[in-house]
Amino acid sequence: MPEIILYLLNQDFSNAALTDDEARAVLEYPAYWMFCWASGQVLARHLLDNPDPVRGRRVLDFGSGSGVAGIAAAIAGAAQVIACDLDPDARLATRCNAALNNVEIEVRDDFEAITEPLDIILVADVLYDRENLAWLPRFLDRAPTVLLADSRIKDFSMPGYTRLGSRLSTTWPDLDEHNEFRQVNLYRGSA
Ligand SMILES: C[S@@+](CC[C@H](N)C(=O)[O-])C[C@H]1O[C@@H](n2cnc3c(N)ncnc32)[C@H](O)[C@@H]1O
Repeated sequence: MPEIILYLLNQDFSNAALTDDEARAVLEYPAYWMFCWASGQVLARHLLDNPDPVRGRRVLDFGSGSGVAGIAAAIAGAAQVIACDLDPDARLATRCNAALNNVEIEVRDDFEAITEPLDIILVADVLYDRENLAWLPRFLDRAPTVLLADSRIKDFSMPGYTRLGSRLSTTWPDLDEHNEFRQVNLYRGSA
């Protein structure tokens, strides 16, 4: 995506087997922000090609990771972008990546503490944790529109959400994920 530049894991990351301690540490505190996930790329590309839903709008990027979706919204002309992530390192990565792209993004840790009015919520690759499914109806209480990108759930069905289409993408740096996770579905939620 030529419009956006991100601080991510180096492409030449080591493929050496992890020790048990290293594997445990990675699983306990995954550094999701080090990757630009396939779903984040598809959502960012969609916003850059179709800016109308975010232009002049108040946007929230839920589970921002590197910040790719929020950065795309800001480049596409959003009036305000808030990024929310549980992980302090992801919040730092979002701040750094916003600065790298010369865009303004406010960063928060707790979705429920966000009180500002929102026009649209962006959600990319958070449904690997099925507990996050519970947020989808609640997003529609907070904003009239949700754009959701996901490659993890194949039989996705949720009241208020309709599928817009799908695109092939690859998490970057390439994690060599199964092909099924390269097929990203894009959904619109409407209140
Ligand atoms: C796989 S990454 C996706 C990052 C980015 N959206 C992308 O597509 O590249 C998932 C991110 O969502 C964050 N996350 C997961 N559940 C969350 C929750 N309930 N609230 C806020 N952030 C969450 C994780 O910390 C992680 O940074």
